[in-house]
Amino acid sequence: MAAPNIDTIVSLAKRRGFVFPSSEVYGGLGSAWDYGPLGVELSNNVKQSWWRWIVYDRDDIEGIDSSIILNRLVWKYSGHEATFNDWLIDCRKCKARFRADKISDNKCPSCGASDWTEARPFNTMLQTKLGAVADDDPTALAYLRPETAQGIFINFLNVQTTMRRKLPFGIAQVGKSFRNEVTPGNFILRTREFEQMEMEYFVSPTAEHAKLVDYWVEQYVEWFGSLGISRENLFLYEVPEDDLAHYSRRTVDIMYRYFPEREKPWEELMGIAWRTDFDLSTHSKNKVDAEGKRINPDSTEDLSYFDEPTKQRFYPHVIEPAVGVNRTVLAVLMDAYSEKTNDKGETRVILKLSPQLAPIKAAILPLAKNKPEIVGMAKAIKRSLQPVLRAVYGDTGGIGKLYARQDEIGTPFCVTVDHQSLEDEAVTVRDRDTWEQERIKVADLAEHLQKRLKPYPVTQPEVV
Ligand code: GAP
Repeated sequence: MAAPNIDTIVSLAKRRGFVFPSSEVYGGLGSAWDYGPLGVELSNNVKQSWWRWIVYDRDDIEGIDSSIILNRLVWKYSGHEATFNDWLIDCRKCKARFRADKISDNKCPSCGASDWTEARPFNTMLQTKLGAVADDDPTALAYLRPETAQGIFINFLNVQTTMRRKLPFGIAQVGKSFRNEVTPGNFILRTREFEQMEMEYFVSPTAEHAKLVDYWVEQYVEWFGSLGISRENLFLYEVPEDDLAHYSRRTVDIMYRYFPEREKPWEELMGIAWRTDFDLSTHSKNKVDAEGKRINPDSTEDLSYFDEPTKQRFYPHVIEPAVGVNRTVLAVLMDAYSEKTNDKGETRVILKLSPQLAPIKAAILPLAKNKPEIVGMAKAIKRSLQPVLRAVYGDTGGIGKLYARQDEIGTPFCVTVDHQSLEDEAVTVRDRDTWEQERIKVADLAEHLQKRLKPYPVTQPEVV
């Protein structure tokens, strides 16, 4: 079972400290959300899981962390200044403004009229100004990056030469991106500030690019599986040629069933694009157009690659899997959501998060909080586990309530210290999903939990 709709997750997220509406004390800020104590852990665990999988577990990918604000020329030559547009239309009757591509039946979603202005472009890069400059000084204009990818492209040579890399190899980056979305909404699905995990995989111009797109699609479907996202809630969408971004020759979107209650339940979770050699060549000083004119007179570098075996110099092509952290967090929460009825007939929420993603791995609970020996033992166990896994001590309710609260936030194990523990140096370990309990010696507890917390494996076939 998954969550029946996003609203169920919005309510759970707020109630239990995952995600709060931002700036609430001033009436909120549409589309901005703050990650609470459990949300920041979950989101960090998603990013760490990705980094381990894409950078550490493989031998062909390096990581970087580039600036959010780049030289404005990056965005000129990447094509974003000219083309990173949404097409806007206004309803003449109620004056509401929409993205033209989101109106499917020609009717205004606010008032139902069909009287529209002409569509016009609106650049969605968020602008800022650098330095202490006059308001109207055009040279101070800068953008907050709308994708992390460009920071990778402009560092291609730095990484390739310092790490002595040969093709094929990739560069990964995780970080914030910004877009002045016309119609943000649906909780953390579409916001103006969000996080991306992007990887640019550089290959020869003669590589089998379409097959490489398929390879990365399969890899990501597997990785999502390892996060607990069920295959049946994913849908592969081959983006039609007319809808491809200006740099792409093929893109497959992996969609997630974010709207199970709707006739059209799918929305993009990530995209895998064959970006050709567009970005590396457009940022290069030596690239010329059909008439022999330099396409980039501002660049001081040539981002081409010399291939030793063939003795040829070329601009590598790129396969780019680009995934949103926030959309992954939302998919993970929706898929993990389940309900179970206890023997008193009460419905309990259980968040069946994969162990590697759970914000808290073990809650150490004293059966009697007025017994100093039991409390002391529980706190000591918490401290001893902390170096190996995220554990918390809890005594803010009866044991049934404490179990229910931990189930609802996805804690895989509750460890209960009782009177017997003082005698036999053993504790009860309760499993979140089955509610089964077993008695484990305190001396074996860390190893026992670590074994059961192992991440789900992801297989990694050779790159095609
Ligand atoms: N570098 C390519 C690129 O940025 P994209 O499809 O525009 O491609 C990649 O973005 C991913 O970033 C999306 O699939 C989505 O997961 C996430 N994303 C994009 N815009 C977003 C927004 N406004 N709010 C939340 N996530 C967003």
